[in-house]
Amino acid sequence: MTEYIVEMKQITKSFPGVLALDHVDFSIKPGEVMALLGENGAGKSTLVKILSGVHTRDEGEIYIYGKEHKGDITPVSARELGIAIIHQELNMCSHLSVAENIFLGREICKSGRLAKKEMNNESAKILDRLKIDIHPETIVGNLAISKQQMVEIAKALSTDAKILIMDEPTSALTNKEIKELFSIIRTLRDEGRSIIYISHRLEELQHIVDRVTIMRDGKFVLCDDFANLTMENIISNMVGREIKEKFPRVQCPIGKKILSVKNLNAGRMVRDISFDLYEGEIVGIAGLMGAGRTEMTRALFGIDPKDSGEIFLEDKEVKINKPLDAINNGIVLAPEDRKKDGLCTGLSVRDNIALPNLDIICNKLSVVNHKKETEMVDEATSKFSIKMPNSDVSAASLSGGNQQKVVVAKWLARDSKVVIFDEPTRGIDVAAKVEIYNLMNQLKQQGIGVLFTSSEMPEILGISDRMIVMCDGRITGELNTAEATQNKILEYATRFEKKLESEQSA
Ligand SMILES: Nc1ncnc2c1ncn2[C@@H]1O[C@H](COP(=O)(O)OP(=O)(O)OP(=O)(O)O)[C@@H](O)[C@H]1O
Ligand SMILES: [Mg+2]
Repeated sequence: MTEYIVEMKQITKSFPGVLALDHVDFSIKPGEVMALLGENGAGKSTLVKILSGVHTRDEGEIYIYGKEHKGDITPVSARELGIAIIHQELNMCSHLSVAENIFLGREICKSGRLAKKEMNNESAKILDRLKIDIHPETIVGNLAISKQQMVEIAKALSTDAKILIMDEPTSALTNKEIKELFSIIRTLRDEGRSIIYISHRLEELQHIVDRVTIMRDGKFVLCDDFANLTMENIISNMVGREIKEKFPRVQCPIGKKILSVKNLNAGRMVRDISFDLYEGEIVGIAGLMGAGRTEMTRALFGIDPKDSGEIFLEDKEVKINKPLDAINNGIVLAPEDRKKDGLCTGLSVRDNIALPNLDIICNKLSVVNHKKETEMVDEATSKFSIKMPNSDVSAASLSGGNQQKVVVAKWLARDSKVVIFDEPTRGIDVAAKVEIYNLMNQLKQQGIGVLFTSSEMPEILGISDRMIVMCDGRITGELNTAEATQNKILEYATRFEKKLESEQSA
């Protein structure tokens, strides 16, 4: 009898123009948490999609509970085998309720009718067990992304799966939710379930992981106990080289003021925001999830209406009522939710890069100059080393991290004065993060003002020249590199919560 609950041997899978998996071995024991690590495009999602019936393998053998599974795994047979997956990109039906999503495809019926009450009750029990405070009848589309993610987790657990795959489950969760998720994972492991855990947040691993499998370029690299590996080992095996500087910093002389925001108010989450941005600096906007950072960038970029406030570009007041106003004034945004707001996933990489730049690549008759277009696309994609067979593949077929690179790359071609990045490195691997930091540095050296939000404290501290901290829609503090520490940022980021606590305890 084998000690493994799942064994995948010599799995090969190709997509048109890409060998996504090249004879990969992977195995997991009952009651263990296995991290599956690798750079963007290494093949992690493809491997777990084969195990969960989303894709079929070209070659290779799969053994489940010690028995060879000869044919393809389908989504239905995966469920019967006790395999559940929480996908990297959210897969909820946003117009349905939480309970309807949890029971999608296996609805409870009575006398030929949907037993809504039962499904609501069952869902409430599952949510309760996971300590998720969401009503089963809430429409999923009305929930914040982090809550939708928790529903996705509840859905996977509701099937009583023995093998649970989590493909970057924490990328949209708050710190508190991450802690709760970890305690759920530990409970599940103690119940004897196996968890395959994919994440680019390597600092998370120490809290939950027993073993680690590393992949690179579609190939298996190593599998070992987490305790036998150092972080340097893990990174160099993932990337295939040493990463010397995780946070490359370049010093630039500070030039003139480019952007000035004065008393900006927009809805409940943007209140009286004032700050300046100078040539040659990167300003990081720190805060906890829900602090209003995204809302602030949206108001600034003209997506959401402003209630009051002024914006000055090089001391000249500008009116930004819609994104086009912002773009025409040289302010561009790489948004947080790349799939929904940052990309046209059905279009090619080429089209995604060309679209916002048609004014540059079209001639006077509005006809696209293909030579210009190709030059622009080639430059943008090579600067970021976007991994793809060619630029005509759809943006949807790229790995998560490479999609993010396209979102950022398309703005490079423009002559921008201010570039705003909202969580630019979410879901991005260690090496690609460094590329994005280098890009920010490059922009700053060109005299462009860079504004970026991030929930990752080391990144904010490592890359910003100056930091603004937000809490509850307001700016609660400003720090320069020399004085900033994790604790100081946290202190500002929880200013109102603390006040509330002390009011409550008084
Ligand atoms: N449906 C698809 N069609 C074509 N190519 C695909 C498809 N899915 C994945 N690929 C390609 O297969 C390779 C592996 O992608 P995969 O999504 O498995 O990477 P990953 O390790 O999960 O990366 P990330 O960390 O960015 O999520 C990539 O080159 C990707 O572009
Ligand atoms: Mg993936």
